Amino acid sequence: MKTRITEMLGIEHPIIQAAMSWASSNAALVTAVSNAGGMGVLGAGPMRPDDFRNCLRDIRAGTAKPFGVNIPLNGARARELLDIAFEARIPVMVASQGGPRGELARFRSIGTRWLHVVASPEHALKAEAAGVDALVVDGAEAGGHPPPSEVTTLVLVRRVVKSVRLPVVASGGVADGAGVAALLALGADAVQLGTRFIATPEAGVHPAYKQAVLEAGVDGTTLVGRGGLPIRQLKNAFSARYEAAERAGASTEELDALFKASSLKQAALDGDVAWGKLEAGQSAGLVEDILPAGELVKRLVAELDEARQRLASL
Ligand SMILES: Cc1cc2nc3c(=O)[nH]c(=O)nc-3n(C[C@H](O)[C@H](O)[C@H](O)COP(=O)(O)O)c2cc1C
Repeated sequence: MKTRITEMLGIEHPIIQAAMSWASSNAALVTAVSNAGGMGVLGAGPMRPDDFRNCLRDIRAGTAKPFGVNIPLNGARARELLDIAFEARIPVMVASQGGPRGELARFRSIGTRWLHVVASPEHALKAEAAGVDALVVDGAEAGGHPPPSEVTTLVLVRRVVKSVRLPVVASGGVADGAGVAALLALGADAVQLGTRFIATPEAGVHPAYKQAVLEAGVDGTTLVGRGGLPIRQLKNAFSARYEAAERAGASTEELDALFKASSLKQAALDGDVAWGKLEAGQSAGLVEDILPAGELVKRLVAELDEARQRLASL
């Protein structure tokens, strides 16, 4: 299947493994997905500069195919990580949380393709005006940071596709090939899956985290931190405590303190699935098995073909 994104990035399938802090902060997941003809994306946000540099080397050693690197632009170490990514002449940048203007020109000068993550039509238009190559559009179902507006992928992707000329990568709520087909039908040029890739041996999170994703139902997630930059995570003791405090009318300071007392790292690395921030999307309710990432890409492509045939036969 050829789309504007497969052509632009030089990949075989319109399937991208979403950047996930810790889960995709390693070479194994990224190379497995890229070698299978999708595009793997390294979640560089939580990485130390030396680890990031070494990991880029490992990815290059593990695949000759295109791969992406995600750097949240508002992160404390963003500048240092951007410099390392620039020196390494990464093929694809997937930038989130912050404007692209300060960095775009130098990455463009070395041929890096710049995909920008947005969560509203307004930010999509701004990123387009700034000159990025493509947009990643995250809807409310997404794990991690969905749009504070809580507009769903179905509506947001369609709105953005109708408003911009740039190619769009749709993201949030997809765990199988039927979901990929649905978002391509909306006009997206590729689809990004995060939560589904947590349930792979290559994902760099604790086995208890993967098990929690497997066990979750479609109503197994909740939004924590409404009013600020909310996160979507699996319901657990931490989210229950936070929501109880909200209901009890806790002050912003109290809620902030509760929010900061828990972390994604605690869930991802220590396996504290009760009190850590167990980030995952609603699509966790569609995940049924742990599968090597390369095989998962193959399965997604086969399911996408099935979905297309089904539609054509109606
Ligand atoms: C555990 C987890 C960690 C994430 N970390 C990041 C991150 O570091 N940077 C980023 O831009 N997005 C991050 N995201 C969001 C994903 O890139 C993607 O938008 C989301 O997973 C898509 O929704 P889905 O999970 O329903 O597939 C994260 C998502 C999850 C589930």
